[in-house]
Amino acid sequence: MGEIFRAEDVYVKRGENLVLKGFNLAVGEGEKLLLLGPNGSGKTTFFEVVVGFVKPERGRLLFMGKPVEAESDFRLLRRKVGYVFQDPESQILMPTVEEEIAFGLLNLGMPRSKIREEVEMVLSAFGISHLKRKFTHELSWGEKRLLSIASIAVMKPELFLLDEPFAGLDERGVRIVASFLKEYDKAVILASHTELNFFEDWDKFYLRAD
Ligand SMILES: Nc1ncnc2c1ncn2[C@@H]1O[C@H](COP(=O)(O)OP(=O)(O)O)[C@@H](O)[C@H]1O
Ligand SMILES: [Mg+2]
Repeated sequence: MGEIFRAEDVYVKRGENLVLKGFNLAVGEGEKLLLLGPNGSGKTTFFEVVVGFVKPERGRLLFMGKPVEAESDFRLLRRKVGYVFQDPESQILMPTVEEEIAFGLLNLGMPRSKIREEVEMVLSAFGISHLKRKFTHELSWGEKRLLSIASIAVMKPELFLLDEPFAGLDERGVRIVASFLKEYDKAVILASHTELNFFEDWDKFYLRAD
């Protein structure tokens, strides 16, 4: 199995504190991982490092076997790594649901007729077809959460990062997202502060709070 992403000996400072201290993680093609740890343990920080929003003090990142260092490396990585923010409101950019889902595909240069098809499919997969023409600022928190996940899922990232994706979701939402992720055929790293028993067969990485 080919390796998609690896973090080696990563140290990250936030303010005065070292949040990640020699953190190591590797994920292979189609592999599913849980990143577990209490509030403040650095789960979000780790994702921000992966996509280049936060620069580590020390350590190495490799994406598909190549070092990720310069901003141009991170730009390439971000085309293939989908990141669902912990806060859906800071992720959603577009006025309507359908535009939000189409946005990433437009950026990737997909033809419009194909985009329409993909948007319909992902709306249906996440049970939000009825929200298609809604204004994003009018959605409920849970609806925003589903939209933020669907709008990344539609791009079929090689590595799918999800930061506390179940927070604020009702039972139906949890079921939809969990079954989507279980069946997703590419790599996934899901960060959570609680153990998730429906992913008991996924490998686990733990972060500590200290
Ligand atoms: N922009 C920032 N500036 C200073 N400290 C930060 C910043 N972002 C996060 N932190 C601190 O880094 C630590 C890890 O935060 P975070 O990565 O959000 O943890 P988690 O996602 O596991 O809850 C926390 O102590 C938090 O207060
Ligand atoms: Mg977090």
